[in-house]
Amino acid sequence: MDSFEFNKIAAAILTTALVFIGIKEIGNVIYHVDKPKKSAYKIEGVEQTTTGQVAEKKVEASLAPITPLLASASIDAGAKVFKKCAACHSIDKGGANKIGPGLWGIVNKKVGAAEGFKYSAALSGYGKNWTFEELNGFLHKPMKYIKGTKMGFAGLKKDSDRANVIAYMNSKSDSPAPLK
Ligand code: HEC
Repeated sequence: MDSFEFNKIAAAILTTALVFIGIKEIGNVIYHVDKPKKSAYKIEGVEQTTTGQVAEKKVEASLAPITPLLASASIDAGAKVFKKCAACHSIDKGGANKIGPGLWGIVNKKVGAAEGFKYSAALSGYGKNWTFEELNGFLHKPMKYIKGTKMGFAGLKKDSDRANVIAYMNSKSDSPAPLK
């Protein structure tokens, strides 16, 4: 093999190699897929948010106000819903704190103010009152609405359940608020 022939072969190998590399690079450009920021399908109940704050805003934003439903809410139906809460909460006047604080007169009361109950920092530092709408947001998804709460309850999905139980809690008070 003379050197000319050798050079031809070497050039051919080199060219082939370059073509391969080239195809791979072009392939990367053509087939490179950016991972979407949000996945196209959502799994029910899974919030695709990274911070608690965003999650809280999302819950608030997607939740219609409860106040319009209260005028037609049923206190009796609310008493039935409250059975889900009664394992952890008493609601009668003078009722003891259980796993959760006593809830007599809870509507419009300061958050985290039951005498002798050891609240999470999240609740004791919340700094608001239990208005109808605060109760609505909290009871919808407690652990999302107030990050760090130790109320281990998944929440009440149905608007009517929340409206009824809020009306019921409102009735358990020395001075029930008007339901409209
Ligand atoms: C598994 C027990 C458990 C269940 C079930 C439960 N809670 Fe609670 N709840 C708690 C605990 C514990 C706290 C205190 C949370 C904290 O300190 O973060 C709490 C706090 C609360 C508060 C705030 C009280 C305050 O003094 O600020 C309200 C209102 C409330 N719960 C309502 C309800 C309602 C209504 C239901 C039923 C729909 C319910 N909870 C179901 C355990 C429970």
